[in-house]
Amino acid sequence: MRSIGVGVIGAGVMGAEHARLIACEVSGAHLAAVADADLARAEAAAQGGRTMADPEALIADPAVEAVLVASPDATHQRLVLAAIAAGKPVLCEKPLAVSTDECLEIVAAEARAGRRLVQTGFNRRFDPAYREMKAIMDDEALGGVRILHCQHRNVAAPAWFTGAMAVTNSLVHEIDICRWLLSTEYSAVTVIPSPAGDPVLFVFETEAGSLVSVEVFMNAAYGYHVHAEAVCVKGTIAMAHPAPIRIRRDGAQEGRFPENWIPRFRDAYRIQNQAWVDGIRAGTPPADGSTAWDGLVATCLADQVVAAMATRQRIPLTLPPRPC
Ligand SMILES: NC(=O)c1ccc[n+]([C@@H]2O[C@H](COP(=O)([O-])OP(=O)(O)OC[C@H]3O[C@@H](n4cnc5c(N)ncnc54)[C@H](O)[C@@H]3O)[C@@H](O)[C@H]2O)c1
Repeated sequence: MRSIGVGVIGAGVMGAEHARLIACEVSGAHLAAVADADLARAEAAAQGGRTMADPEALIADPAVEAVLVASPDATHQRLVLAAIAAGKPVLCEKPLAVSTDECLEIVAAEARAGRRLVQTGFNRRFDPAYREMKAIMDDEALGGVRILHCQHRNVAAPAWFTGAMAVTNSLVHEIDICRWLLSTEYSAVTVIPSPAGDPVLFVFETEAGSLVSVEVFMNAAYGYHVHAEAVCVKGTIAMAHPAPIRIRRDGAQEGRFPENWIPRFRDAYRIQNQAWVDGIRAGTPPADGSTAWDGLVATCLADQVVAAMATRQRIPLTLPPRPC
């Protein structure tokens, strides 16, 4: 089968990693072009390939058969709509767009195109640890999940980070992965900030009757740490320590934490991108990939959780009607 020409938009932290993965680690695809408003960044990420500053020119380029969007959140909707209009499959980093209305326009445009073109980059669905947790949950040997406890800790929030971004940028990953793990939708949320404002505790109720607790700690200092533990009827399923090795010395044992999400989720990004390319080649998008609708759900719920932060009240969570 032929190789798919992928164009990457945005060559920052995530885009440079996606470009490297397409060029070096994903089979059945090649890096056709990289676009970044900062041309020097595009050149650094392009592995000697074509570069441009204009993302619309990349989408229109005949050598680009599929588009990977890794530019800032606010640019996503315009670029995803342009890719759909060009009839090109698009893998868009999370969030799909910054408002529910923007996401609805994408869902409607894809429906008009008549085929699945959009995958939202909720990479954790391809992370081996989350996938193993889901397989054990779905097997039901441990009974149903009563509570799913999650931790999402970053070393330090950047200076430009706002309280709402703890939800729209970080918690949004748990919003997607937990509804995927539990195969259910959320019915309500309660938000309890710590007295210092960081960390914040989120407690979701689900339609399936299980609870989801998420601690988001933007300034956890010690490392990047994402963890989940499912408390089931007959046992628990917990992620092991993220470090692949343990060091024992001086009467103690240690395992290092990564600095950020790239080392922790490198396998997930690679497996996600490979599944996306395989889906394009086979004409069948990956079954577990996050769709445009899943992207809308995450953005829509994140907006409601931000509103709940202000009230500290338990609020019901709702979704707009799903277009046919
Ligand atoms: N899936 C994940 O785990 C994960 C992790 C971090 C970030 N993200 C998402 O990835 C996206 C990129 O984040 P990042 O951390 O790489 O950001 P970044 O700031 O490091 O990089 C963004 C790049 O986009 C370029 N850019 C800005 N406007 C542009 C435009 N209109 N056209 C083309 N290029 C443009 C900038 O010059 C920059 O190089 C964001 O949407 C973010 O939410 C996802």
